[in-house]
Amino acid sequence: MDYKDLIASNLSECTGLDKDQISGLIEIPPKLEMGDFAFPCFVLAKTLHKAPPMIANELKENPELVKGFDGAVTVDCAGPYINFKIDKGILAKTVVSEIVSEGDQYGNRNIGEGKNVIIEFSSPNIAKPFHVGHAFTTILGNSLSNIYTRLGYNVIRFNHLGDYGTQFGKLITAYRLWGDEKAMQENPIDELTRIYVKFHDECKVSPEAEKELEDSARDNFRKLEEGEEEEVALWKRFRDLSLEVFEKTYKRMGIKFDNYNGESFYSSRIPAVVEMLESKGLLEESEGAKVVKLDDEGLPPCLVVKSDGTTIYASRDLAAVLYRHEEFNFYKNIYVVGLPQQLHFKQVFAVLKKAGYDFADDCVHVGFGLLKFKDNTAFSTRAGNIIKLDDFLDKTTEKTAEIIRKNSELRGGDMTDEQIAEVSEVVGLGAVTYTYLKAGREKDIFFDWDDMLDFEGDTAPYLIYTYARIKSILRKADETGVAGGSIDSAAKLTAEDEYAVIRSLADFKDAVVKAAESYEPFMISRQIALIARNFNRFYNNSRILNVDDDEVRTARLKLCEAVAFCLKSGLDMLGIGVVEKM
Ligand code: ARG
Repeated sequence: MDYKDLIASNLSECTGLDKDQISGLIEIPPKLEMGDFAFPCFVLAKTLHKAPPMIANELKENPELVKGFDGAVTVDCAGPYINFKIDKGILAKTVVSEIVSEGDQYGNRNIGEGKNVIIEFSSPNIAKPFHVGHAFTTILGNSLSNIYTRLGYNVIRFNHLGDYGTQFGKLITAYRLWGDEKAMQENPIDELTRIYVKFHDECKVSPEAEKELEDSARDNFRKLEEGEEEEVALWKRFRDLSLEVFEKTYKRMGIKFDNYNGESFYSSRIPAVVEMLESKGLLEESEGAKVVKLDDEGLPPCLVVKSDGTTIYASRDLAAVLYRHEEFNFYKNIYVVGLPQQLHFKQVFAVLKKAGYDFADDCVHVGFGLLKFKDNTAFSTRAGNIIKLDDFLDKTTEKTAEIIRKNSELRGGDMTDEQIAEVSEVVGLGAVTYTYLKAGREKDIFFDWDDMLDFEGDTAPYLIYTYARIKSILRKADETGVAGGSIDSAAKLTAEDEYAVIRSLADFKDAVVKAAESYEPFMISRQIALIARNFNRFYNNSRILNVDDDEVRTARLKLCEAVAFCLKSGLDMLGIGVVEKM
């Protein structure tokens, strides 16, 4: 049973306010003893012409308020707040049985049924290394996709590959001049980066050399746009080889896409966009280029066609959003792209709006900050400051393995090399993922190995370790034949430590919805971190297997089970796996 929902319904009936509005206003009191839910009466003051404390005092006597609770709730007021306190035993039983029956799908809902949500994320540039910055969009976008899917939306995962633009003319020229076929097969991205850098170095040699190279590059890009066979074949090869490399990383991280339509896909649709903007009288000439002026919106003009007639990034995005709407009639179209591109998206959405497409309001730019390394010597970065994601993941899993091995040795060496490797991959990748997601997405991350791998800190290793510890208790219960028993026993979980765990488990469902609404997976990470901390406090203070009272033992084991399911569910929403033993 969803108590918050029932309270919102009852309050809505008593006050005439909209239920959703009430739901948004209901708070969780800062102290457990104050109750489970609180409703602030300020909103009613205007219509009722009374002071909020007076309203609260009168409202609390309304019998409609406790309808449907079968005596499981008491209502009280404190100043302007009405506090609802659910009977601890009943709450415990409700929450634990719900989780045990839903298992690791706890937190799912069907609020998104029948709605298409496009989530565009990752979108790396072909022929360039996949670096730690792309990891942010990849991890954040994957988590948001998981969360929306769990809420019942039909999620379509888009990877808007950066696979088009004048730089491909340069690459074709460079490849013909200096490309090394063997290197290309061994490590295509390194080789493509090498010749791209060489192109720019050679341009610096003399103005003549520069002119010759640039002319050739422009010519090659034009041929590519016109569909010349040889140029298209080369470009396609660069694209395929790069994608193969990216896909290895995606596979390692357990990330999938439904759609890889990159920028190139939309290039043929741009003339139609230009025509549409022209017919609506939105396109203006400016220094030979074509732009949409956005003065009224307080934005600089959006460049659609360059003075040399070639199209650019923004035009491809306009074509893309029209295509997405046509194909998927989206409820939301979400772009998980770094904050530096905020202006670009504002412009694209504003152009849509000006052109009369109201679905511009359903387009959302979900921006994020930067990853900064506290210790910049952690990597030797030859080419600029780029840290490749694969190197970062390798280094993390290596460091994780050292810790896992040491812990295993302390226990007398209870893990094989293979087990250590397997566990370190899950825990290491989890640690990286968690680091990206654990704070608000717009904040920069100051990355530090020790923080990230602290088994006692606010980290994935801590959460996965808590999960594994619970699984070991549950295995022991099985082995000693004390598992099973009635779920009704959960009504015994009313001691303070137990109640704290129950309360945080109950709040998990709301955290999931809030994470989706604000595009902030940290609302989930924060909640499961709280659950784990509450659980560990309970675990340190109470016996679980060695209690004489069968019913108490059963109740505590059920609580363990519920916590494990909820942690697994939350971690999975973030894109983090678990291990059964570590
Ligand atoms: N490829 C771009 C980059 O790496 C990101 C693409 C963002 N998505 C978009 N629809 N413009 O910076």
